[in-house]
Amino acid sequence: MTTTHRPLVAGNWKMNGLRKDLEEIATIRDAVKAAGPIEVVVCPPFTLLAAAAVLCEGSGVGLGGQDCHTESKGAFTGDIAPPMLKDAGAAYVILGHSERRLFHGESNALIHDKVKAAQAGGLIPILCVGETEDQRKQGQALAVVGQQLQGSIPQDAQIDSLVIAYEPVWAIGTGLTPTAEDVAEMHGFIRTHLSERWPDKAAGVRLLYGGSVKPGNAGKLLAIANVDGALVGGASLIAADFLAIANACPTG
Ligand code: PGA
Repeated sequence: MTTTHRPLVAGNWKMNGLRKDLEEIATIRDAVKAAGPIEVVVCPPFTLLAAAAVLCEGSGVGLGGQDCHTESKGAFTGDIAPPMLKDAGAAYVILGHSERRLFHGESNALIHDKVKAAQAGGLIPILCVGETEDQRKQGQALAVVGQQLQGSIPQDAQIDSLVIAYEPVWAIGTGLTPTAEDVAEMHGFIRTHLSERWPDKAAGVRLLYGGSVKPGNAGKLLAIANVDGALVGGASLIAADFLAIANACPTG
C-alpha cells in the first residue's frame, strides 16, 4: 500500500452460486463492519444480485456485476445493461476479465465502450488487465498491459470512479502467483501509465491484484507497493476464506 485510500477486496463468483449460497453472503455481511477500514464487495451471478442486495442493505458489503453491455437497453438477448445492475443493487461491475476476453472475444475497444457505459450508468468499473503465460515468457507483460490500459480506458473516463485489477492470466485459478517483485513492477507500471494520462488523479485509483489470492498468500501480496486490495475468484466462494483475505489487508 502506498496510497491513502481505503483498500478494496472484491469477490468474483464467476458462474457459481445458487440461491442457497446466499448464506455465504449473509456470513460475509455479518462479519464486515459498515464503514470499516476495508471495503468489501461481492460480485455474484446476475441471478443473485437483487436477493444479495436485500441481504446486504445497510451493511458494509457492496455488490457488483460481472459484465455489462455498452447500451442502456434494447434488443440484445441475453445481455445486461448498466442501469439494470444499478437497479438490482450493484455499485460496481467487473469489465474486461480475461475469461470474457478469451471466451467471448472481447477486445480493448469493446471494453472501452463498456467502461464508458458503466460509468454513465453510475457504476464503478473494476477493469481487469493481465498478460498470458507466453506473453510473460516473451518479456511482453508490460507492453501487453500498457496496450490494454491505453485501449480500454477512455481518455474522458471519470478516473476517480475506476478500479483496476491486474490479473495475470496464468495465475487465475491455477494456484500460481507472480513474485512480489513482478507484482510491484506491474503495479508501479500501471500507476505510471495513469499518472501520465491523469496527473492529478492517478494516485487515488485503487489497483487490485488478482489471480490465486488465498488466505495463505494474501498478507504477502497485499503488502506490496501499489497493491490497494484484491480481486478474488475461487477463494471468495467460501465466506471464511474470503473474510480471511479481507482481514489480511493492511489498513495503513
Ligand atoms: P482466482 O480468480 O482467485 O480463482 O484465481 C481470480 C479472478 O479470476 O478474478
